[in-house]
Parts: sequence; structure tokens; C-alpha cells
Amino acid sequence: MDFLARYLALQDALNRHASFWRPAPFHMARPDWCVQYPDWAAQALALNDAEVERLNADNVALIDWAAHRLPALAELQALIELPRIESPGDAEPVSGQLAWAMPGRKQAQVEAFAEAVDAIENPILEWCGGKGHLGRLLASRTNQPVLSLDYDATLCREGELLAERAHVDQHFVCADALQPDATHHLAGRHAVALHACGDLHLALLRGAVRQHAAALDLSPCCYYRTVDAVYRPLNPEGTLQLTRDELHLPVTDTATAGARDRRLRDRAMAWKLAFVRLREELAGLSSARTFKPVPASWLSLSFEAWCRKLAAREGIAVPAHYDWPALEAFGRQRQREVMRLSLVRHVFRRPLEIWLALDRALFLERAGYRVRLAEFCGRELTPRNLFISARL
Ligand SMILES: C[S@@+](CC[C@H](N)C(=O)[O-])C[C@H]1O[C@@H](n2cnc3c(N)ncnc32)[C@H](O)[C@@H]1O
Repeated sequence: MDFLARYLALQDALNRHASFWRPAPFHMARPDWCVQYPDWAAQALALNDAEVERLNADNVALIDWAAHRLPALAELQALIELPRIESPGDAEPVSGQLAWAMPGRKQAQVEAFAEAVDAIENPILEWCGGKGHLGRLLASRTNQPVLSLDYDATLCREGELLAERAHVDQHFVCADALQPDATHHLAGRHAVALHACGDLHLALLRGAVRQHAAALDLSPCCYYRTVDAVYRPLNPEGTLQLTRDELHLPVTDTATAGARDRRLRDRAMAWKLAFVRLREELAGLSSARTFKPVPASWLSLSFEAWCRKLAAREGIAVPAHYDWPALEAFGRQRQREVMRLSLVRHVFRRPLEIWLALDRALFLERAGYRVRLAEFCGRELTPRNLFISARL
């Protein structure tokens, strides 16, 4: 199936089943599909923790589970299947000076990404490269000079030092990737971008086309980090209107989270759901109303202190006495329900992500590039494992 056919088939499936994935169970007691499919809702709510984790960690198993209830969903399996680029395994592992300051998982991701990039025949531009770990590795493995771009001057300085120590031909430019000037660096270069967020990778795509970049290898990330409140597809056939909350859906995947991170994630969600109830009770605010992200460091507070701090930030007066244990228990109960009802929403997580990737791939193809879409590693290394590779 070519890119356009798959793009349209996914779009059609997403449109037909929008009532399952557009409403977020976090914001409502029960999404409407629960009324239409009460048995499915009851079955989801009865799953134990291990089953919820297993389904959440495996998109194929999740679609399989949903297709038992709604056979039409089985079509999604073929639509999310992508080739995995297998590492030839003959490259030297990153070690010594090259690996300095690279955290373990990042090192494995950089390694897998570098192995996925085929022949590099032009000078390299690393887009939003942070300390330039990927660029440093590519500089050591090719005979091409590397320019790494990032807007954080400290990261650029640290990257320069790491490059010097590793004796590689890599330099840094401190620039804002969202400004038109930044894209001038793309002319005649081979652009690489590991985990570039929403607007940053969209600026890369548009800039690469405008500047006729020779090649581009990209793994997109954080699709919801955009200035626009509603996503504008890059292709005229694209009709999905996606809000920022919906763009968040593809990255709700926590495949690489350990037990401690999962515990903290569950606590954060339970406390936020409890706060939504408190806010409704004390200020009459609807549960659909969102609030700014809550700093993760606040989770070390007691539940009461956390609620009071957030209420103060949100301008909500809290009485001196309140039944905090009952409110926390309510939050925990809601969190269990939200995790289970969200499984149905998560069925569409990978299909939506692949539709977004196809939107990018098609855009490049239409600008004259030969484009491949694949996975550059297994999702246990990073669930953001899509790889868009384009050559002029
Ligand atoms: C998710 S990190 C990816 C870093 C690197 N590619 C990696 O995988 O380690 C995003 C990087 O984008 C940089 N960044 C964010 N906004 C930017 C902007 N407007 N212009 C340039 N760089 C930006 C950040 O400083 C950060 O280093």
C-alpha cells in the first residue's frame, strides 16, 4: 500500500471511530461509547492491573483485544505495521570519549538511529541536537563535518567540549529553529533529527523543502508541542482536525517506564482527578476544564499539601478542614477507572501516530524526495521509534 492509500485508510478508520478516541476519560465520568457498548465498558473496568499494563504496553495485543468487541477494528493491525530497520550489528559500540555525558538509554537510541541512517554523502546538520550526541557519533563514523543546531547556549557549549575531547569535526550553532534564518543551514546538507518535537520538526520539514536539503532522517516526537491550537495537515487530502489534547494521544505511551515511574504516574493522575473533584465542589468548575502542568517535584508533598498548593495557584479558596482521605480515595478510584476506559482510546494511539508520520512522509514525497517510513528500534528502547528518511 503506498503512502497516500494508507494515509487515507487510516484517516477513514480514525474518522469512523472518533467517538472512541476523541473524548478523554480523564475529563468525564463516562465517555459516550460506554452507553453504546456497556458490556465492553464493564469488561474494561474489570481488568486487573497486570492486564491493563500488558495491553498498554503492546499495540498489537491492544487492537486484538478491541477487535474481539468490534471486529472492524482488526483492519488497524495491517495499517500500523511498518518495517523495522535491523541493525547490521557490525558497528563499533559507542564507547570511551564518544559516550561521555550520554545517559544509557539515550546512548542506545542514538546508536540505533545512527545505524538506521544509510549512506551520508553531504555535510550533516543535526537539528535541535542538544549536546549533539547523535552528531558526535555520526562525525566519528563518516567523513562528513557536522553542524549541530540548538537554541540552548549551555548545551551548545557543552557539546563543543565533548566534540573537542572526542576529536571529531563537529561544531555548534546556537539558533532558534523556529526562525526562518535557521533553515538556511539546511541548504545542501543532510539533516538528522532525533526526537524533535512538534513545531521543531515541522520547521525542519518545511525548511528542508525550501532549502533543497540533500537528505533528511527524522524521528518525530511530542506532536502536541505546537503554537497552533488545532493541527493543520500538511497535505490537501488531510481532513482530520486534531486539538492539542488529541495530538497528545500518540505519546501517552509509557513503554519504557519502570515500576517507580509508573507508581508516580498513577499517583499524579489520581491526585489530579481528586483536584478536579475538589475544584468542582468548591468553585463549581467543570471537569472538562484543563489546568497548566503541575510540577512533578510537588509529588513529594503530602496529598493535602499538594492540593492546597495547586488550589492556591489556581486561585481556589480551600477551607481549613476538609475530608482529605475521602478525597484521595475518590481520586484513586477514578484513576483506576480512567486507566481502564483509556485502553479503548489507546487502541487508536499508534494509528494516529502513523497517520501523522504519513502526513510528513507524503509532504516530503510530493516535494520530490524518495521517502521511507520505518521503525528504527524496538519500542522497549523508545516508543517514539518512527523513522522518516528522505533523499532528493
Ligand atoms: C527533545 S530534545 C532532543 C535533543 C536531542 N535530539 C536528543 O535526542 O537528545 C529537544 C532539543 O530541542 C532544543 N530546542 C527546543 N526548542 C528549540 C528551538 N526553538 N530552537 C532550537 N532548539 C530548540 C532543546 O534545547 C533540546 O535540546
